[in-house]
Amino acid sequence: MHLPNPHLGMGTWGMGGTWERDPANIDASIEALRLGLSLGLRIIDVAELYGRGLSEEIVGRAVAEHRPDAYIISKVWKTHLRYEDVLRAADSSLERLGTDYIDLYLVHWPNADVPLSETMRAMEKLVDDKMVRAIGVSNFTPELMEEAQGHLKHTTLTANEIEYNLHARDAEQGIIPYCRAHDIDIIAYRPLAKGALARHTNSVLDELAKKYGKTHNQIVLNWITSQNMIAIPKSSNLAHIKENAGALNWNLEPDDVERLRAA
Ligand SMILES: NC(=O)c1ccc[n+]([C@@H]2O[C@H](COP(=O)([O-])OP(=O)(O)OC[C@H]3O[C@@H](n4cnc5c(N)ncnc54)[C@H](OP(=O)(O)O)[C@@H]3O)[C@@H](O)[C@H]2O)c1
Repeated sequence: MHLPNPHLGMGTWGMGGTWERDPANIDASIEALRLGLSLGLRIIDVAELYGRGLSEEIVGRAVAEHRPDAYIISKVWKTHLRYEDVLRAADSSLERLGTDYIDLYLVHWPNADVPLSETMRAMEKLVDDKMVRAIGVSNFTPELMEEAQGHLKHTTLTANEIEYNLHARDAEQGIIPYCRAHDIDIIAYRPLAKGALARHTNSVLDELAKKYGKTHNQIVLNWITSQNMIAIPKSSNLAHIKENAGALNWNLEPDDVERLRAA
């Protein structure tokens, strides 16, 4: 099973807090997510970890009236990877999201203290029980993906969510080729390098921005989606959401993708 098009979505780290609950930006975050959905950014990435659950509540409120329009990714934290804990975590996420299914549920980080067989057995049970429609992993090496898939009896890994952007390129060495070879979608987190890419100058980026009539942020997001990966930039700012949505519905030419990679 693959993620839907378009391959540009929204992250939520910081909405409703980061490591703690922080209600300060709830309304602005809901407004930003609703605007993004209306502009075609269907994929929303969240996790039980974010804002200690408050980010999921925000996502739930943002999609409440249009649940089928959204494709929700959530994740189970690495301290909840025992069989019963995975089931409980998913149940709690569903409650906070106010929905009866999660489109894609990921193991957020590996945890060597818990047998992966136990975790994946629980992930598959969630599919059987129709609580989640697809499962995957995040921050997994090729070896761990291989092991995780080996523990699944009748489902396959849909995606691996990893850090990837113009600057963070380690995944090109092993993870990306592995995913391509095994038909696993790649979800690129921190696609804007936490906003740092917008502040960098680079002559190829300048030239391509002129050529396509796009901003630097739109070029760097499109550089990811043009490689058939999913990018999930986070923004709580309406102008930024609009700018990011301007990376939809066009593609960099393959030569330009490679020029940017080399630059
Ligand atoms: N699986 C994992 O382990 C993992 C790890 C990290 C992140 N993630 C996911 O990936 C998502 C994206 O990563 P991220 O949030 O760390 O970094 P990011 O999306 O690369 O950057 C987000 C930062 O960029 C700013 N920004 C967004 N659009 C902008 C624009 N058009 N112009 C200027 N600034 C802009 C945002 O500020 P404003 O809000 O002010 O626009 C925010 O400070 C996260 O939110 C989370 O859902 C997953």
